[in-house]
Amino acid sequence: MTDKKKRVGILISGRGSNMMSLIAAARDSGYPAEIACVLANRPEAEGLAKARSAGIKTRAIDHALFKGRGDFEAALDDALREAGVELVACAGFMRLMTPDFVERWRDRMLNIHPSLLPAFRGLHTHERVLAAGVKITGCTVHIVRAEMDEGPVIAQAAVPVLNGDTLERLAGRVLEAEHKLYPHALALFASGRVRIAGEKVLGPQVSINQEKALFCPPLA
Ligand code: GRF
Repeated sequence: MTDKKKRVGILISGRGSNMMSLIAAARDSGYPAEIACVLANRPEAEGLAKARSAGIKTRAIDHALFKGRGDFEAALDDALREAGVELVACAGFMRLMTPDFVERWRDRMLNIHPSLLPAFRGLHTHERVLAAGVKITGCTVHIVRAEMDEGPVIAQAAVPVLNGDTLERLAGRVLEAEHKLYPHALALFASGRVRIAGEKVLGPQVSINQEKALFCPPLA
């Protein structure tokens, strides 16, 4: 465990609700991370104004203004380093990153995805979950590797799919879990309570309830 707060840079592309959950958690004096900056690849990202009104330093780095992915990522990297960032938290950041950038932030960059990875990687997750008819889905915070939505899993939350769920209802239920999971996973990671061994993250274990499993539909 370390006592010094880790400086976190959050990357967003849109509304930034997960970003806000991290900002809110980091207000707690006992939280092991502080939010050093929020960077967006789209100047019109709604999350930028939300972060600013929460008193966080923000910057838009518009990917469309750069010749190639490498130049854009160099600017991103400069901004992160200028802000003294030690850990990067992607929160709805919709740009694929080059292996080079991922390597530069190896084991120091996290992402949240709205499924129980490795199931349902990629876009349109909830549509595919509903189409597949699975009964349990959820969300995952993982360490970023070069492949999309791949990398050692830090934490997951399981969310039931309910009869008659619409896309909006399911997405809303999963998002509620995301807002609890990301601050929790970042705290585990930033405090050093988890460690990476091989391509697995080892950390605290849950206490198992009587059933030892989540059943959906329920047993009773
Ligand atoms: C979340 O569902 C997250 O899991 C996914 O993109 C969405 C971003 O939402 N990667 P928000 O911008 O955090 O509100």
